[in-house]
Amino acid sequence: MRRGAGMPARPGTAPAVEPGRARLTGRAAVLQAAGLAPDGDGAAGGADMVLDYAVKSQSYAKTIGRLTTPVHGATAVAVARTSAFDGKLLNEFRQLKEIGGALRSPRVVPLYSSQPVYVPSPNDRSRTSRSAAYLMKWIDGFHSRTDRARFDNSLTTLPGGKRDAALADVHRLDGYLRSEKTIPDLQVMLEVATGNLYLLDPGEKGLTPPRGRPHPYVEKWRGLLTGELAPHQTAAYDAQRVD
Ligand SMILES: Nc1ncnc2c1ncn2[C@@H]1O[C@H](COP(=O)(O)OP(=O)(O)O)[C@@H](O)[C@H]1O
Ligand SMILES: [Mg+2]
Repeated sequence: MRRGAGMPARPGTAPAVEPGRARLTGRAAVLQAAGLAPDGDGAAGGADMVLDYAVKSQSYAKTIGRLTTPVHGATAVAVARTSAFDGKLLNEFRQLKEIGGALRSPRVVPLYSSQPVYVPSPNDRSRTSRSAAYLMKWIDGFHSRTDRARFDNSLTTLPGGKRDAALADVHRLDGYLRSEKTIPDLQVMLEVATGNLYLLDPGEKGLTPPRGRPHPYVEKWRGLLTGELAPHQTAAYDAQRVD
């Protein structure tokens, strides 16, 4: 039977949270190390504190949220949707750390490996599960996959200084993919305020040997930035098989 509005919660279940929000409990010491909690005032001693986040995106494996407490600034959280996806999330976390040594990607801070976190499932508030999670910088901008049209259009209209920043990131990415590693399922977010291109969501497959040739998406992004390509001329690049 489906529980409807107005029916009492089953005894012993986690308290309900507002729709579109969930609560995350992390150790203050971990949050302080990440620069996400103020020193002192009750946060000391490793006591649990609650992080509120608004759910921004959900795929089958993970939820992306944005912390809503102002003291945390613009911080995103990635949470495995069930413990079955913990391994996938931790693998992604490790890859982001590796990529971040060579390329621009949001600095990631683990929650699970230091302390487990308890996350009420946004779709079923009667269950509370332990999940892998990590924190990272929140990026205001467009995602090259889920927001492709706006991503491509924005590249062509970036003002000079920001365009130079984006071109520098594309150049570095090109060198890395040709000579260091391939990132299957390549995904980038454009931070509109700076022109910075952040790598994220490196996926399940892991990094693989270098391609030794330009990646079609990277070529497309370079063309859009230099003005050699207009957004309506990108179909041939988008259609190429890249994995
Ligand atoms: N650091 C971030 N800042 C802002 N938005 C983000 C961030 N990471 C992910 N997102 C948003 O969440 C969506 C899904 O993120 P992604 O990491 O690609 O996960 P998945 O594809 O596994 O669901 C993206 O399209 C983007 O809009
Ligand atoms: Mg993705």
